[in-house]
Amino acid sequence: MDAIRIGVMGCGVVSEYGHLPPLRDSKRFDVHALMDPDADRLADYQRRFGVPRGYTDQDPFFTSGLDAVAICSPAPVHLENIRGCAAHKLPALCEKPLAMDADEAQQIVDVMREANLPLYVGFCYRFSGCAQTIRDLVRDDAIGQVRTLRLIYNWDCHGKYEQGPDGQWRVYQRRVERMLEGGPMVDCGVHQIDLAQWWLNSPVVRYRGHGSWADEFEAPDHVFLHMDHDCGAHTLVEMSYTYGHTTRHKYNEFIYELIGTDGIIRYERNTNLFELRTHQFTEKLKHTGEKNFAVMYDHFADAIQKNDPGDLCTGEEAIRVTDIARNATDAIIADRISKPVKIGASK
Ligand SMILES: NC(=O)c1ccc[n+]([C@@H]2O[C@H](COP(=O)([O-])OP(=O)(O)OC[C@H]3O[C@@H](n4cnc5c(N)ncnc54)[C@H](O)[C@@H]3O)[C@@H](O)[C@H]2O)c1
Repeated sequence: MDAIRIGVMGCGVVSEYGHLPPLRDSKRFDVHALMDPDADRLADYQRRFGVPRGYTDQDPFFTSGLDAVAICSPAPVHLENIRGCAAHKLPALCEKPLAMDADEAQQIVDVMREANLPLYVGFCYRFSGCAQTIRDLVRDDAIGQVRTLRLIYNWDCHGKYEQGPDGQWRVYQRRVERMLEGGPMVDCGVHQIDLAQWWLNSPVVRYRGHGSWADEFEAPDHVFLHMDHDCGAHTLVEMSYTYGHTTRHKYNEFIYELIGTDGIIRYERNTNLFELRTHQFTEKLKHTGEKNFAVMYDHFADAIQKNDPGDLCTGEEAIRVTDIARNATDAIIADRISKPVKIGASK
Protein backbone atom coordinates (compact mmCIF):
# COMPACT_ATOMS: atom_id res chain seq x y z
CA MET A 1 0.00 0.00 0.00
CA ASP A 2 1.36 3.45 -0.91
CA ALA A 3 2.40 5.76 1.92
CA ILE A 4 -0.15 8.42 2.78
CA ARG A 5 1.05 11.85 1.62
CA ILE A 6 0.35 13.98 4.68
CA GLY A 7 0.63 17.76 5.00
CA VAL A 8 1.26 19.34 8.42
CA MET A 9 -0.11 22.80 9.20
CA GLY A 10 1.71 24.66 11.98
CA CYS A 11 5.42 24.36 12.79
CA GLY A 12 5.29 24.97 16.53
CA VAL A 13 5.95 23.17 19.78
CA VAL A 14 3.51 20.28 19.43
CA SER A 15 4.40 19.50 15.84
CA GLU A 16 8.10 19.52 16.78
CA TYR A 17 7.98 17.10 19.70
CA GLY A 18 4.71 15.24 18.98
CA HIS A 19 3.59 15.04 15.34
CA LEU A 20 6.60 15.35 13.06
CA PRO A 21 9.01 12.81 14.64
CA PRO A 22 6.66 9.79 14.32
CA LEU A 23 5.39 10.93 10.91
CA ARG A 24 8.98 11.24 9.64
CA ASP A 25 9.78 7.74 10.99
CA SER A 26 6.57 6.03 9.84
CA LYS A 27 6.50 3.80 6.76
CA ARG A 28 2.78 4.46 6.42
CA PHE A 29 3.16 8.25 5.97
CA ASP A 30 5.22 10.47 3.73
CA VAL A 31 5.45 14.04 5.06
CA HIS A 32 4.72 15.70 1.74
CA ALA A 33 4.42 19.37 2.75
CA LEU A 34 4.47 21.80 5.66
CA MET A 35 2.56 25.06 6.01
CA ASP A 36 3.28 27.92 8.44
CA PRO A 37 2.91 31.68 7.92
CA ASP A 38 6.27 32.17 9.65
CA ALA A 39 8.74 31.68 6.75
CA ASP A 40 11.84 31.29 8.94
CA ARG A 41 10.29 28.66 11.14
CA LEU A 42 8.90 26.88 8.09
CA ALA A 43 12.36 26.69 6.47
CA ASP A 44 13.90 25.49 9.74
CA TYR A 45 11.32 22.68 10.14
CA GLN A 46 11.65 21.65 6.48
CA ARG A 47 15.40 21.31 6.94
CA ARG A 48 15.23 19.50 10.28
CA PHE A 49 12.48 17.06 9.29
CA GLY A 50 13.54 16.67 5.65
CA VAL A 51 10.26 17.87 4.13
CA PRO A 52 10.60 18.85 0.44
CA ARG A 53 7.68 21.31 0.19
CA GLY A 54 6.91 24.28 2.43
CA TYR A 55 4.26 26.98 2.05
CA THR A 56 3.39 30.14 3.94
CA ASP A 57 -0.11 30.19 2.35
CA GLN A 58 -2.91 27.64 2.45
CA ASP A 59 -3.79 27.48 -1.28
CA PRO A 60 -0.52 26.08 -2.70
CA PHE A 61 -0.24 23.77 0.32
CA PHE A 62 -3.66 22.24 -0.38
CA THR A 63 -2.97 21.80 -4.10
CA SER A 64 0.47 20.21 -3.60
CA GLY A 65 -0.88 16.64 -3.93
CA LEU A 66 -1.93 15.63 -0.40
CA ASP A 67 -3.92 12.62 0.84
CA ALA A 68 -4.46 13.86 4.44
CA VAL A 69 -3.74 16.78 6.75
CA ALA A 70 -2.53 17.16 10.35
CA ILE A 71 -3.54 20.51 11.88
CA CYS A 72 -1.09 21.67 14.57
CA SER A 73 -1.82 25.39 14.37
CA PRO A 74 -3.37 27.41 17.25
CA ALA A 75 -7.12 26.98 17.87
CA PRO A 76 -8.20 30.40 16.46
CA VAL A 77 -7.16 29.33 12.93
CA HIS A 78 -8.46 25.73 12.99
CA LEU A 79 -11.74 26.64 11.23
CA GLU A 80 -9.88 28.34 8.37
CA ASN A 81 -7.53 25.31 8.09
CA ILE A 82 -10.47 22.87 8.15
CA ARG A 83 -12.33 24.80 5.44
CA GLY A 84 -9.29 24.21 3.24
CA CYS A 85 -9.34 20.47 4.03
CA ALA A 86 -13.05 20.24 3.17
CA ALA A 87 -12.65 22.21 -0.08
CA HIS A 88 -9.85 19.85 -1.17
CA LYS A 89 -11.55 16.65 0.06
CA LEU A 90 -8.85 15.79 2.61
CA PRO A 91 -9.38 13.87 5.88
CA ALA A 92 -7.97 15.70 8.91
CA LEU A 93 -6.52 15.08 12.32
CA CYS A 94 -6.80 18.37 14.21
CA GLU A 95 -5.17 19.35 17.49
CA LYS A 96 -7.33 20.10 20.50
CA PRO A 97 -9.12 22.31 21.30
CA LEU A 98 -11.03 22.31 18.02
CA ALA A 99 -11.90 26.00 18.43
CA MET A 100 -12.10 28.89 20.86
CA ASP A 101 -15.83 28.42 21.51
CA ALA A 102 -18.58 25.83 21.11
CA ASP A 103 -20.21 27.47 18.04
CA GLU A 104 -16.99 27.51 16.08
CA ALA A 105 -16.19 23.93 17.11
CA GLN A 106 -19.61 22.85 15.83
CA GLN A 107 -18.96 24.68 12.54
CA ILE A 108 -15.73 22.69 12.17
CA VAL A 109 -17.55 19.40 12.71
CA ASP A 110 -20.36 20.45 10.34
CA VAL A 111 -17.99 21.54 7.56
CA MET A 112 -16.31 18.12 7.56
CA ARG A 113 -19.58 16.19 7.91
CA GLU A 114 -21.16 18.06 5.00
CA ALA A 115 -18.08 17.27 2.90
CA ASN A 116 -18.44 13.61 4.01
CA LEU A 117 -14.88 13.57 5.35
CA PRO A 118 -13.42 12.05 8.52
CA LEU A 119 -12.31 14.46 11.25
CA TYR A 120 -10.39 13.31 14.33
CA VAL A 121 -8.99 15.27 17.24
CA GLY A 122 -5.51 14.84 18.72
CA PHE A 123 -6.34 13.25 22.05
CA CYS A 124 -2.93 11.57 22.15
CA TYR A 125 -3.17 10.40 25.78
CA ARG A 126 -5.57 7.62 24.70
CA PHE A 127 -2.74 5.94 22.79
CA SER A 128 -0.10 5.64 25.50
CA GLY A 129 0.66 2.14 26.77
CA CYS A 130 -0.57 2.94 30.29
CA ALA A 131 -3.87 4.43 29.08
CA GLN A 132 -4.51 1.45 26.82
CA THR A 133 -3.67 -0.99 29.66
CA ILE A 134 -6.12 0.83 31.95
CA ARG A 135 -8.81 0.70 29.24
CA ASP A 136 -8.31 -3.09 28.87
CA LEU A 137 -8.28 -3.72 32.65
CA VAL A 138 -11.49 -1.74 33.13
CA ARG A 139 -13.14 -3.52 30.19
CA ASP A 140 -12.14 -6.90 31.72
CA ASP A 141 -13.51 -5.94 35.19
CA ALA A 142 -10.02 -6.40 36.70
CA ILE A 143 -10.95 -4.18 39.68
CA GLY A 144 -14.66 -5.02 39.69
CA GLN A 145 -16.96 -2.09 39.04
CA VAL A 146 -15.04 1.18 38.85
CA ARG A 147 -16.60 3.65 41.30
CA THR A 148 -14.03 6.47 41.66
CA LEU A 149 -11.35 8.02 39.47
CA ARG A 150 -8.75 10.54 40.66
CA LEU A 151 -6.88 12.11 37.76
CA ILE A 152 -4.32 14.65 38.92
CA TYR A 153 -1.91 16.83 37.00
CA ASN A 154 -0.37 19.63 39.03
CA TRP A 155 2.42 21.53 37.28
CA ASP A 156 3.55 25.03 36.37
CA CYS A 157 2.88 25.04 32.59
CA HIS A 158 6.62 25.61 32.07
CA GLY A 159 6.79 28.30 34.79
CA LYS A 160 5.70 31.91 35.15
CA TYR A 161 9.09 33.30 34.08
CA GLU A 162 11.70 32.38 31.51
CA GLN A 163 15.26 33.57 31.12
CA GLY A 164 15.87 35.41 27.84
CA PRO A 165 19.04 35.15 25.72
CA ASP A 166 20.26 38.31 27.53
CA GLY A 167 20.03 36.47 30.87
CA GLN A 168 17.10 38.65 32.05
CA TRP A 169 13.98 37.02 33.48
CA ARG A 170 10.69 37.80 31.75
CA VAL A 171 7.11 36.54 31.85
CA TYR A 172 6.74 33.33 29.85
CA GLN A 173 4.27 34.23 27.09
CA ARG A 174 3.17 30.72 26.10
CA ARG A 175 1.87 30.13 29.60
CA VAL A 176 0.08 33.52 29.45
CA GLU A 177 -1.61 32.41 26.20
CA ARG A 178 -2.73 29.11 27.75
CA MET A 179 -4.21 30.98 30.72
CA LEU A 180 -6.00 33.48 28.44
CA GLU A 181 -7.44 30.60 26.36
CA GLY A 182 -9.21 29.23 29.46
CA GLY A 183 -6.57 27.96 31.85
CA PRO A 184 -5.53 24.48 32.97
CA MET A 185 -8.82 22.59 32.69
CA VAL A 186 -9.56 23.86 29.16
CA ASP A 187 -5.99 23.49 27.90
CA CYS A 188 -4.86 20.28 29.58
CA GLY A 189 -7.71 18.85 31.68
CA VAL A 190 -9.64 17.99 28.51
CA HIS A 191 -7.33 14.97 28.16
CA GLN A 192 -8.30 13.72 31.63
CA ILE A 193 -12.01 14.34 31.03
CA ASP A 194 -11.73 12.41 27.79
CA LEU A 195 -9.83 9.52 29.40
CA ALA A 196 -12.39 9.15 32.20
CA GLN A 197 -15.30 8.84 29.75
CA TRP A 198 -13.33 6.63 27.38
CA TRP A 199 -12.02 4.25 30.07
CA LEU A 200 -15.45 3.87 31.66
CA ASN A 201 -17.27 3.90 28.32
CA SER A 202 -19.76 6.07 30.16
CA PRO A 203 -20.62 9.72 29.50
CA VAL A 204 -20.52 12.46 32.11
CA VAL A 205 -24.08 13.39 33.06
CA ARG A 206 -23.41 16.07 35.70
CA TYR A 207 -20.38 18.12 36.69
CA ARG A 208 -19.22 21.00 38.82
CA GLY A 209 -15.90 22.76 39.22
CA HIS A 210 -14.15 24.58 42.05
CA GLY A 211 -11.00 26.60 41.74
CA SER A 212 -8.51 29.02 43.17
CA TRP A 213 -6.25 31.78 41.92
CA ALA A 214 -2.54 32.23 42.64
CA ASP A 215 -2.10 34.28 39.46
CA GLU A 216 -3.75 37.38 37.99
CA PHE A 217 -5.73 35.84 35.10
CA GLU A 218 -9.50 35.64 34.84
CA ALA A 219 -9.40 31.85 34.67
CA PRO A 220 -8.68 29.94 37.88
CA ASP A 221 -5.18 28.49 37.76
CA HIS A 222 -5.86 25.52 40.08
CA VAL A 223 -9.08 23.65 39.31
CA PHE A 224 -10.98 20.72 40.83
CA LEU A 225 -13.61 19.24 38.54
CA HIS A 226 -16.13 16.71 39.90
CA MET A 227 -17.98 14.61 37.31
CA ASP A 228 -20.74 12.01 37.70
CA HIS A 229 -20.90 9.38 34.98
CA ASP A 230 -23.99 7.66 33.65
CA CYS A 231 -22.73 4.34 35.12
CA GLY A 232 -22.70 5.86 38.64
CA ALA A 233 -18.93 6.33 38.92
CA HIS A 234 -17.45 9.65 40.03
CA THR A 235 -14.31 11.33 38.63
CA LEU A 236 -12.22 14.04 40.23
CA VAL A 237 -9.86 15.87 37.87
CA GLU A 238 -7.37 18.17 39.64
CA MET A 239 -5.34 20.37 37.32
CA SER A 240 -2.97 23.22 38.17
CA TYR A 241 -0.81 25.66 36.24
CA THR A 242 0.51 27.34 39.40
CA TYR A 243 2.03 24.31 41.16
CA GLY A 244 5.52 25.68 41.73
CA HIS A 245 5.17 28.25 38.95
CA THR A 246 7.55 30.65 40.72
CA THR A 247 9.76 28.16 42.56
CA ARG A 248 13.41 27.70 41.67
CA HIS A 249 13.20 23.93 41.56
CA LYS A 250 10.42 22.33 39.55
CA TYR A 251 8.19 19.57 40.77
CA ASN A 252 5.03 18.11 39.29
CA GLU A 253 2.45 15.54 40.21
CA PHE A 254 0.79 13.29 37.63
CA ILE A 255 -1.46 10.51 38.89
CA TYR A 256 -4.15 8.23 37.52
CA GLU A 257 -6.06 6.29 40.16
CA LEU A 258 -9.09 4.10 39.54
CA ILE A 259 -10.83 2.63 42.56
CA GLY A 260 -13.20 -0.27 42.01
CA THR A 261 -15.33 -2.68 44.02
CA ASP A 262 -12.49 -5.21 43.87
CA GLY A 263 -9.26 -3.29 43.65
CA ILE A 264 -7.25 -0.28 42.60
CA ILE A 265 -5.19 0.72 39.56
CA ARG A 266 -2.60 3.40 40.29
CA TYR A 267 -0.19 5.19 37.95
CA GLU A 268 2.35 7.78 39.12
CA ARG A 269 4.73 9.62 36.82
CA ASN A 270 7.42 10.55 39.31
CA THR A 271 7.94 7.19 41.01
CA ASN A 272 7.44 5.06 37.86
CA LEU A 273 4.70 3.24 39.72
CA PHE A 274 1.97 1.49 37.74
CA GLU A 275 0.19 -1.34 39.47
CA LEU A 276 -2.99 -3.32 39.82
CA ARG A 277 -4.06 -4.35 43.34
CA THR A 278 -6.89 -6.81 43.86
CA HIS A 279 -7.92 -9.02 46.81
CA GLN A 280 -5.88 -11.84 45.24
CA PHE A 281 -2.63 -10.16 44.12
CA THR A 282 -0.67 -7.02 43.35
CA GLU A 283 0.70 -6.86 39.82
CA LYS A 284 3.34 -4.45 38.54
CA LEU A 285 2.34 -3.09 35.14
CA LYS A 286 4.58 -1.68 32.40
CA HIS A 287 5.14 2.02 33.11
CA THR A 288 5.06 4.22 29.99
CA GLY A 289 4.86 7.91 29.13
CA GLU A 290 1.41 9.51 29.07
CA LYS A 291 1.25 10.59 25.41
CA ASN A 292 1.85 8.53 22.28
CA PHE A 293 1.62 10.26 18.92
CA ALA A 294 3.11 7.31 16.97
CA VAL A 295 0.27 4.95 17.91
CA MET A 296 -2.25 7.75 17.28
CA TYR A 297 -0.91 8.03 13.71
CA ASP A 298 -1.15 4.25 13.23
CA HIS A 299 -4.83 4.56 14.06
CA PHE A 300 -5.14 7.55 11.70
CA ALA A 301 -3.54 5.48 8.90
CA ASP A 302 -6.05 2.66 9.61
CA ALA A 303 -8.88 5.18 9.54
CA ILE A 304 -7.79 6.42 6.09
CA GLN A 305 -6.76 3.12 4.50
CA LYS A 306 -9.17 0.65 6.17
CA ASN A 307 -11.99 2.93 7.25
CA ASP A 308 -11.30 1.78 10.85
CA PRO A 309 -10.99 4.74 13.27
CA GLY A 310 -9.82 2.49 16.14
CA ASP A 311 -9.38 4.58 19.29
CA LEU A 312 -9.38 7.98 17.58
CA CYS A 313 -11.47 10.72 19.16
CA THR A 314 -14.16 12.11 16.87
CA GLY A 315 -15.02 15.79 16.51
CA GLU A 316 -18.35 15.28 18.31
CA GLU A 317 -16.64 13.62 21.29
CA ALA A 318 -14.07 16.41 21.45
CA ILE A 319 -16.80 19.07 21.52
CA ARG A 320 -18.52 17.43 24.51
CA VAL A 321 -15.23 17.14 26.41
CA THR A 322 -14.25 20.77 25.76
CA ASP A 323 -17.76 21.98 26.69
CA ILE A 324 -17.40 20.34 30.11
CA ALA A 325 -14.02 22.02 30.70
CA ARG A 326 -15.17 25.46 29.48
CA ASN A 327 -18.56 25.45 31.20
CA ALA A 328 -17.03 24.34 34.52
CA THR A 329 -14.32 27.04 34.24
CA ASP A 330 -16.89 29.74 33.37
CA ALA A 331 -19.03 28.75 36.37
CA ILE A 332 -16.01 28.91 38.71
CA ILE A 333 -15.26 32.43 37.44
CA ALA A 334 -18.90 33.50 37.86
CA ASP A 335 -19.00 32.12 41.43
CA ARG A 336 -15.67 33.59 42.49
CA ILE A 337 -15.60 34.83 46.07
CA SER A 338 -11.86 35.14 46.62
CA LYS A 339 -10.23 38.57 46.28
CA PRO A 340 -8.06 39.16 43.19
CA VAL A 341 -4.44 38.26 43.79
CA LYS A 342 -1.92 41.12 43.89
CA ILE A 343 1.16 40.02 41.98
CA GLY A 344 4.06 41.90 43.52
CA ALA A 345 7.12 39.72 43.65
CA SER A 346 9.02 39.14 40.47
CA LYS A 347 12.47 38.00 39.54
N1 LIG B 1 -2.27 17.15 22.23
C1 LIG B 1 -1.40 17.72 23.06
O1 LIG B 1 -0.92 17.11 23.99
C2 LIG B 1 -1.02 19.16 22.79
C3 LIG B 1 0.14 19.69 23.38
C4 LIG B 1 0.48 21.02 23.08
C5 LIG B 1 -0.34 21.80 22.26
N2 LIG B 1 -1.49 21.24 21.74
C6 LIG B 1 -2.36 22.03 20.87
O2 LIG B 1 -1.73 22.14 19.59
C7 LIG B 1 -2.03 23.42 19.00
C8 LIG B 1 -0.70 24.15 18.69
O3 LIG B 1 -0.01 24.34 19.90
P1 LIG B 1 1.57 24.69 19.94
O4 LIG B 1 1.91 24.69 21.38
O5 LIG B 1 2.34 23.85 19.02
O6 LIG B 1 1.53 26.19 19.37
P2 LIG B 1 2.73 27.07 18.80
O7 LIG B 1 2.33 28.48 19.00
O8 LIG B 1 4.05 26.60 19.35
O9 LIG B 1 2.75 26.73 17.23
C9 LIG B 1 1.71 27.04 16.37
C10 LIG B 1 2.28 27.26 14.96
O10 LIG B 1 1.17 27.46 14.08
C11 LIG B 1 1.54 28.49 13.18
N3 LIG B 1 0.34 29.10 12.58
C12 LIG B 1 -0.27 30.27 12.90
N4 LIG B 1 -1.32 30.49 12.09
C13 LIG B 1 -1.35 29.44 11.21
C14 LIG B 1 -2.19 29.09 10.12
N5 LIG B 1 -3.21 29.89 9.74
N6 LIG B 1 -1.97 27.93 9.48
C15 LIG B 1 -0.95 27.12 9.85
N7 LIG B 1 -0.10 27.42 10.86
C16 LIG B 1 -0.31 28.55 11.54
C17 LIG B 1 2.36 29.45 14.02
O11 LIG B 1 3.16 30.31 13.20
C18 LIG B 1 3.19 28.48 14.87
O12 LIG B 1 4.39 28.16 14.21
C19 LIG B 1 -2.93 24.14 20.01
O13 LIG B 1 -4.27 23.94 19.63
C20 LIG B 1 -2.60 23.45 21.34
O14 LIG B 1 -3.66 23.50 22.27
C21 LIG B 1 -1.82 19.95 21.99
